[in-house]
Amino acid sequence: MKVGILTGGGDCQGLNAAIRGAAKSLMHEYDAEIVAIEEGFIGLIEQRTRTLSLRDVSGILGKGGTFIGTCNRASPFNYKGRDVSREVADYYHALGLDCIISMGGDGSMTLCYEMSKLGMNFVGVPKTIDNDIAETDRTFGFDTAVNVAAEAIDRLHTTAQSHRRVMILETMGRYAGWIALHAGVAGGADVILIPEFPYHLEEVVDTIQKRAKAQAFTIIVIAEGAKPVGGDHSVSKTLQDSPDPIRLGGIGHFLQNQLEGRVDSEVRTTVLGHLQRGGTPSAYDRLLATNVGCYAASLVASERYGRLVTVRNNHLSSVPLEAVANHVRGVPRDDMTLVSAIAMGVCLGDPELKIPLRGLRDDTLLMG
Ligand code: F6P
Repeated sequence: MKVGILTGGGDCQGLNAAIRGAAKSLMHEYDAEIVAIEEGFIGLIEQRTRTLSLRDVSGILGKGGTFIGTCNRASPFNYKGRDVSREVADYYHALGLDCIISMGGDGSMTLCYEMSKLGMNFVGVPKTIDNDIAETDRTFGFDTAVNVAAEAIDRLHTTAQSHRRVMILETMGRYAGWIALHAGVAGGADVILIPEFPYHLEEVVDTIQKRAKAQAFTIIVIAEGAKPVGGDHSVSKTLQDSPDPIRLGGIGHFLQNQLEGRVDSEVRTTVLGHLQRGGTPSAYDRLLATNVGCYAASLVASERYGRLVTVRNNHLSSVPLEAVANHVRGVPRDDMTLVSAIAMGVCLGDPELKIPLRGLRDDTLLMG
């Protein structure tokens, strides 16, 4: 058995653990040859691959990032203005691979699905700090990112309190509000603004002014994909050669500008950025990544190609790659963390967003 492994899209904590889980189990049980494809699809395009030894995948469990490199820009269908997808498929066959385990987000899975039409076999592993992949409840990387953001909120609390200020924390997450919601609730934020519910500025101003009279300070967590009612997403840059060209960012400072002059307190903004994606993975992420990696190996071993590993209701399973291609999983209205936030009086910026505790269904979704 000869199996390629690639990591595509933005890195996240737990990728090394997932590579290790997949590689070690395939080496151990099937004596498989594992081929690392460097920097995601770029490695296939530029023919940069190398065979991994057991030693290569040892000692990497607790390391952040991905030791084989990744890229969130390269598409074989548009590489420096050329469609090189056929060359990539030819290279795959020349390598003699049975399959590639591709660890990525929905962008990578879309590429895998398109490339599988050219005769390549893929097994997908969902990974992203954003937790936004369809058909899966939890992606590794998310837990660590939430921990980083929650700690940042704790730190902002003390300085916000001392200066009686409004502190805005902008988190990542693309078009889903998972990181902001979970970190916001875990860190006790007063206002949480997420893309799923465009915010009404008046709601935020009211909350701040009321708090100014009592607690004096306000902590706002805003997801990078959030936007005001009737407004647009804040875009920090556009990368034309990327399968997903829009990079979000800037909504925190935009909100600060909106608030200044309308509230009595001073306002400051912190953009957490790539700190959320770097560093040591939490034990939870290591474990999830290991299990998902080993499960991907089981799909390879039973030749169940063209599928993505999923985590649903605490069970591992798989779905066809096309089921997740081009889908974003946002925060649903019955998410218990959202319900808890509303019940406790956290401002979500949307006066219509009311989910009364009375009548909550017995099978309410625990946490996305
Ligand atoms: O998808 C992971 C992610 O970190 C998003 O949360 C964020 O919008 C994006 O990647 C940032 O991309 P880049 O690393 O290219 O700036």
